[in-house]
Amino acid sequence: MDDKVGRNDPCPCGSGKKYKKCCLLKKGSKRNDFKDLYWHTYRIRLKGKRDIEGIKKTGELVLELLQLVKDEIKPGISTDDINTLVHEFTIKNNAISAPLHYRGFPKSVCVSVNEVVCHGIPGKRILKDGDIVNVDVTPILHGYYADANQTFFVGSPSSEAQKIVRVARESLKIGRSMVCPGNTIGDIGWAIQKYAEGEGCSVVREFVGHGVGFEFHEPPEVPHYGKKGKGIRLIPGMVFTIEPMINLGRKDVVILEDNWTVVTADGSLSAQFEQTLVVTNNGYESLTPFDL
Ligand code: MF3
Ligand code: CO
Ligand code: CO
Repeated sequence: MDDKVGRNDPCPCGSGKKYKKCCLLKKGSKRNDFKDLYWHTYRIRLKGKRDIEGIKKTGELVLELLQLVKDEIKPGISTDDINTLVHEFTIKNNAISAPLHYRGFPKSVCVSVNEVVCHGIPGKRILKDGDIVNVDVTPILHGYYADANQTFFVGSPSSEAQKIVRVARESLKIGRSMVCPGNTIGDIGWAIQKYAEGEGCSVVREFVGHGVGFEFHEPPEVPHYGKKGKGIRLIPGMVFTIEPMINLGRKDVVILEDNWTVVTADGSLSAQFEQTLVVTNNGYESLTPFDL
């Protein structure tokens, strides 16, 4: 990775000023490379080769978990059954489920059915024919986090269910395609918003993608809406999620009494897909590379 910024180059902080007039620190300072610059400016911890390998290993477990769940999803199972599957398989692989006890979250996986946007707590709810169910897993393996989710059909989907899952899937695909050095965080959200709203759907604002790898949620925030060219410039070694939550109706959400479950305010269906990505020299690589 070419991690030197020229004095006369545009500052990577996105100010539009020259680097030497902006974030360039004193000569001889150990901070004058991207790694220190992104840390000092944004609190973003760029990942090195070993880190990427570690996150990728965790990503392999993510894919196994999602496949395991996919194979078991059918009418009649409870959301708690999904929790049991995820919890036991994670432990069997010497990993830890990051959601368990995270800020008081009581289970090992988020399971979000129909109008539940995200952060559904597994419990007694029984999946029925025609439901859509999002399963969001984040194992920690050898200290490295990888975070991904998919929305599955239970039995035969309605045309509404097919539509929202298609638009959510495509939203991640389009957001992901914007990831390359030189583009900005804003480009990602801009592309997703334009597409999803063009399909007559809406983009949830309250929850965003995020840096990940050393911790569950690191800087930067990655909104799924926004303006082209705005925000932090992407550089190789950044690792973050894109995880658009797309509603069939209005964008507004409500948090239930349990302080976790997020539902659409209008009761409309919501779907989501998430992957963990690393910015490479010429684009991105998914560290949780399921087909979209
Ligand atoms: N996995 C979610 C995300 O994509 C976060 C869940 S937080 C939890 O960021 F506590 F609900 F697990
Ligand atoms: Co996430
Ligand atoms: Co997640």
